[in-house]
Amino acid sequence: MSLDTIDLTNQDAFVNGVPHEWFATLRREAPIFWHPEPDGGPGFWCLTRYDDVVTVNRDNQTYSSARGAVFMWDLPPDGLEQQRLMMLNMDPPMHTRYRRLVNKGFTPRMMTQLEQTARERTRAILDKVAPRGECDFVTDVAAELPLQVIADILGVPQGDRHKMFDWSNRMVGSEDPEYAVSEAEAQVASMELFAYAAQLSETKRAQPGADLISVLSDAEVDGEQLSQLEIDLFFMLLTVAGNETTRNQISHGLLALLENPDQLALLRARPDLLPGAIEEMLRYASPVMHFRRTATRDLTLGDTAIAEGDKVVIWYVSANRDEAVFEDPMRFNIERTPNDHVAFGGGGPHFCLGANLARLEIRLLFEEMLARWPNLELAGEPQRLRSNFINGMKHIPLKFSTAG
Ligand code: HEM
Repeated sequence: MSLDTIDLTNQDAFVNGVPHEWFATLRREAPIFWHPEPDGGPGFWCLTRYDDVVTVNRDNQTYSSARGAVFMWDLPPDGLEQQRLMMLNMDPPMHTRYRRLVNKGFTPRMMTQLEQTARERTRAILDKVAPRGECDFVTDVAAELPLQVIADILGVPQGDRHKMFDWSNRMVGSEDPEYAVSEAEAQVASMELFAYAAQLSETKRAQPGADLISVLSDAEVDGEQLSQLEIDLFFMLLTVAGNETTRNQISHGLLALLENPDQLALLRARPDLLPGAIEEMLRYASPVMHFRRTATRDLTLGDTAIAEGDKVVIWYVSANRDEAVFEDPMRFNIERTPNDHVAFGGGGPHFCLGANLARLEIRLLFEEMLARWPNLELAGEPQRLRSNFINGMKHIPLKFSTAG
């Protein structure tokens, strides 16, 4: 395959599945590849090997999240300025101060406290669709649990949770015709979300609860209260990160099991394999396919000279299939060990805040679902999200029966 045919900016190349052959070619022939950008963009370095992804992720002094934010496309100056008020697009030491504010909400201890309520929510979600014997697994099941749980954590009344789903879809899925169709509409969604967050934090200031928005509405960084915009951006980050990714992970996990019936049978026979199966689902799917950094100085990575200001895009989805690290990487193997995947990032200060929460949600869903639905079967063609950033599923028609 000629490297010229590879175009990772082409969203259509991701509609029928992740272009794994392209990534395999890049890992083998051009692991640090200069990728041109259509529409006059400057181009970017494409890093597809595991070791390079980890190196970049951990070295935030050389590879900045703040300088050009973490998205592949450059933002206009005012957009960039605003994005840099969001923790995801900060570098230490500023990042450390913001991260500290929310860390406490996501510790293993907090997850233990959440588990009982989250399990009850999982059961109610499955009970609701059970009489129908079929469902759209993505919207009826996989989307619901993360949404309900993040609403609890943020202090959003459950009646408003579908607003979060809708904003999140319209902002992230803006390349997909089923959701937002234009940049302008994605902007409208983010404005609606901001207005909602402002209203919510006002309510929480008047009547604080045990939720995260109450905490943030009262928090200080360097002796100053957070601005309304900073609170809005925290709300945006947690809304998107806390439901989009896990929804897709749960969906891909189910698909992987259905496509590999031997692995599904093994998991049913040996429920103790579930924690390992979850790690393999994460490796196999990589719901966040890439993030971007910007070089802060001229440097050499391997044999390649990278100039200060160059964009460096790290492809988690490729690192997780790197044959130098994972034996038989294209195979879905729930007994894989070790399994040091980078689905939550390759380490470093931005390592996924919600990793413990995501694992909890995935576990609860599969525990409850496998226990009550002994027969699972696709009832139509699954539909993917059109995106080179989020490895997303929009719909999975599923038939199930409760009797064996
Ligand atoms: C399977 C589900 C998930 C996946 C695959 C995922 C993936 C990721 C990845 C790849 C990063 C960037 C890591 C880096 O650059 O080093 C990240 C960061 C983040 N994730 Fe997740 N995530 C998931 C679920 C969640 C959940 C449930 C939350 C809940 C709030 C969450 C909140 C965040 C936040 C806030 C950040 C930014 C952290 C920072 O900048 O310090 N994620 N996630």
